Amino acid sequence: MRTCRSKTGIWTLLLTVGWSGLRAEVPPYRQASLPVEERVEDLLARMTLQEKILQLNQYTLGRNDNPNDRNAVNTQLPPEIGSLIYMGSGPEMRNRMQRRAMEETRLGIPILFAYNTVHGFRTIFPIPLAQACSWNPRLVEAACVEAARETRLTGIEWTFAPMVDVARDGRWGRIAEGFGEDVHANAVFCAAAVRGFQGTTLADTLRIAACLKHYVGYGASLGGRDYVPTEISRQTLWDTYLPPFEAGVRAGAATLMSSFNDISGTPATANGYTLTEILKKRWKHDGFVVSDWDAILQLVHQGRAAGRREAARLAFLAGVEMDMTDNCYRDHLGELIAAGEVEPGRLDDAVRRVLRLKFRLGLFERPYVPERPEKERFLRPEALTLADSLAAESCVLLKNETRILPLAPGCRIAVIGPLADAREHLLGSWCGRGEARDVTTLYDGLCAEFGAEQVRYARGCDFNGDDRSGFPEAVAAAREAQVVVLCLGERRQWTGENASRATLALPPIQEELARTLSEVGKPIVLLLSNGRPLELCRLEPLCAGILEIWQPGTAGGKPVAGLLSGRLNPSGRLAVTFPRTTGQIPIYYNQRRKARPDQGAYLDLPDTPMYPFGHGLSYAEFRYGEIRQVSVEPLVLELTVTNTSSRDGAESLLWYVSDPVCSITRPVRELKHFEKRLIRAGDSETFRFEVDPLRDLGFVDETGRRFLEPGEYWIQAGPQKFRLLIPEE
Ligand code: BGC
Repeated sequence: MRTCRSKTGIWTLLLTVGWSGLRAEVPPYRQASLPVEERVEDLLARMTLQEKILQLNQYTLGRNDNPNDRNAVNTQLPPEIGSLIYMGSGPEMRNRMQRRAMEETRLGIPILFAYNTVHGFRTIFPIPLAQACSWNPRLVEAACVEAARETRLTGIEWTFAPMVDVARDGRWGRIAEGFGEDVHANAVFCAAAVRGFQGTTLADTLRIAACLKHYVGYGASLGGRDYVPTEISRQTLWDTYLPPFEAGVRAGAATLMSSFNDISGTPATANGYTLTEILKKRWKHDGFVVSDWDAILQLVHQGRAAGRREAARLAFLAGVEMDMTDNCYRDHLGELIAAGEVEPGRLDDAVRRVLRLKFRLGLFERPYVPERPEKERFLRPEALTLADSLAAESCVLLKNETRILPLAPGCRIAVIGPLADAREHLLGSWCGRGEARDVTTLYDGLCAEFGAEQVRYARGCDFNGDDRSGFPEAVAAAREAQVVVLCLGERRQWTGENASRATLALPPIQEELARTLSEVGKPIVLLLSNGRPLELCRLEPLCAGILEIWQPGTAGGKPVAGLLSGRLNPSGRLAVTFPRTTGQIPIYYNQRRKARPDQGAYLDLPDTPMYPFGHGLSYAEFRYGEIRQVSVEPLVLELTVTNTSSRDGAESLLWYVSDPVCSITRPVRELKHFEKRLIRAGDSETFRFEVDPLRDLGFVDETGRRFLEPGEYWIQAGPQKFRLLIPEE
């Protein structure tokens, strides 16, 4: 029996069985006061094989607007389905579907609705790669709180984020979606995002369940192409690709997504080692894994499975609980069980994990969401202020020759380039339900900041192509101005999924526009909006100043103009290396040491990048004290930084560890800690690093065992170095 709907029904029942009898009739899984595990077991015991299998399937609801993820709109969705990717921007369609699940099915199990809220739902924050450059996990966490709120109010309880694939090849379009090239940075921002999305309890009706993706190693895609295999040794898996996921699991991430890549012969979606041995057994994750879109079927394309049935078996037995969109589980799990190839106990374990999340989210008690209008759900002032701050802190001042920035008040500005008046492209890839009309253009931002009469706009050229007809107007604008603010970069479709580029250089037409304008002789400040590191070797000499603004999201030109005027002070630092040319890839900062330190460089290029990891200028000036050890147990290091300028400025201090000799060779240096602080003009701030020797000085071997060897270690922060000695036991 499910519910007693009519009043007469209730009275008749009461007369027959009394109060206690009625209570006994409410099945335990419907009793909110009972522990989740008890409810899960009760429900599981009532389910048929078919009902169980359907819980492990995900499909889409609504018209799919993602060009990489095409599937037919299914109007015959079974209401017993476990999860749906929701393509609507209001809760109405979702509630209608949920009503079917609650009222037209035997057990009334709510559907779990999912979506890609990656860097915002309607209020769009900067792309994650930019967020990492803020070195401000507190702000990132707060952005995820706002993103969760807009998502949940629309009826979606589960996001496919954060993406924590360490990525070191800027050609890979998905580098935009993660937190850059460093392991520790990805781990810290991952945990911050999970806290922001999920809060302290999943029962919070303004939070959503997180999904760590893409598990694991997708960022190592060969040559930066998408969907291709990866070559990852067990050692590299443990020291580079797994740590951000482990940090997310420790932060309580409810789910993970298995990735598209083949990991040196075993595709991630059929990888029992990563999915079961590590995730479920070692890390004791009690949530579930969803495959990436069609990733189970893709085991056939990858040459691991002969057909869909085998693909279903391999993925399921490896530890993927939910099948995203390809219906391999729906079509084959039943026969696999009948044939004894999948044990019923395994099926129960998978279903248990899915139900657990639904109970934890409170979906059985609150299956529907109030149908509020957009203005009550989206773009609230707190969210917009936060979007401004995070965008401002994400920008990185790459170059500031002759202190061209901040611009002198009252100066005449020519704002030129394909991005100067763009809205959509400032949103970046995976921009949820973000709308171009909400975005402030760079041009509008400058007008508001400096006064419209000071600013003249000319487009100059398109993003690519060979149309130079806008050049004369751009040159004329430059002639009249005192400074050229040149806005170059990428369309938002040039990064993200299935959007790799063979070169990090901007298209020739954009470089030609810059060259043409440089001949006018006015100083050029280059604003770059892009989702990957760029090849700047030809543009850099033409510009006095370069500000990397990434894809800032809804805030767009507002904070950027504040940085140009000096109302705000740049504080971002690169979370990814900018090579001089594409041919230098891979050139991430934490490679292992060379056999010959002074040899082996390319004959035609210096061995250094254009802008290293951690690079970023400020309008303030900082003086760094010595690193001092202030306590032995715990081992605490401190460094005092003084702002010697007359401007307030924030400093992000990055603390690195080097281990000169180890039984497993290690990267030249590894980021282990970072902290950002505002330092008022003339003031000092003391930064602190509490070193946990095993965690921060130790390393991991190819089985995942962490070890610490005695000997010398070097700690580096800013320009300073400090020697630590770990004695023999
Ligand atoms: C992407 C995932 C995304 C999923 C659902 C896939 O193609 O790789 O990142 O979450 O689609 O949209």
